[in-house]
Amino acid sequence: MKFLFVGAPAVGKGTQAKKLAQALGVPHISTGDILRECAKQTTDLGQKVKKFIDLVSLVPDEVMMSIIEERFRKGDTQKGYILDGFPRTTAQAMGLDMLLARLNQAITLVLLFECPDAVIMERIIERRSCPKCGTPYHLRWQKPKVDGVCDKDGTPLVQRVDDTRTKVFHRLDQYRSETAAVIPHYEKRGLVRRVNANQPPDDVYRDVEAVVKKG
Ligand code: AP5
Repeated sequence: MKFLFVGAPAVGKGTQAKKLAQALGVPHISTGDILRECAKQTTDLGQKVKKFIDLVSLVPDEVMMSIIEERFRKGDTQKGYILDGFPRTTAQAMGLDMLLARLNQAITLVLLFECPDAVIMERIIERRSCPKCGTPYHLRWQKPKVDGVCDKDGTPLVQRVDDTRTKVFHRLDQYRSETAAVIPHYEKRGLVRRVNANQPPDDVYRDVEAVVKKG
């Protein structure tokens, strides 16, 4: 039950990861959520991370590896986890290989979520998120019960700084030039399963469950 969720920005990884993690009773480890939380701190690391997030740049690999290693030290990852948004570069994939070898763990499957750019664009522009728990909403497809407020904790919803039309182009380029290279790393081992993310969330989840069941 050790899954990696890979895909372009706003393809729906977080939406699906939260649901599957809850169903399996394993932690959902989103590096985006961890970094956004870290960027709120006044520490040197927090301020460094904030700079990268504001610039919509990838956080350096060595910083990411120490964040992931610290997250694994929490001790709740033995039974399984969903890693969402990590690894995002080949160097991170190799770093994760070494970390898992040390822990005597192996990745079960890599779920690759696929969706056309035009759909991704629309999802990003219409996304609102809870700054407290990270739950994503969509102004049309996944509305909160009360306008502008998180269903889970009542926190006012916000639009992320990287969710603007101009920044989406940059994020898509970054995905193609850096993150897509991670896919062959796992394809060579026969671990990649493609999921059609261009359908309503419940239909995507049905496919996710089927992939996980089949192995
Ligand atoms: P991160 O938060 O990981 O951003 P991302 O990969 O761009 O992914 P998103 O969170 O944007 O989207 P998602 O795929 O989870 O989609 P969601 O479910 O929300 O990272 C942010 C930044 O942190 C990066 O740019 C980078 O700077 C840094 N970072 C993170 N990890 C890093 C790493 N490993 N190394 C270096 N830097 C790193 O859905 C999107 C919207 O669509 C929502 O509104 C949702 O409600 C809606 N939606 C979802 N599914 C559907 C559906 N099926 N139909 C209709 N609407 C849907």
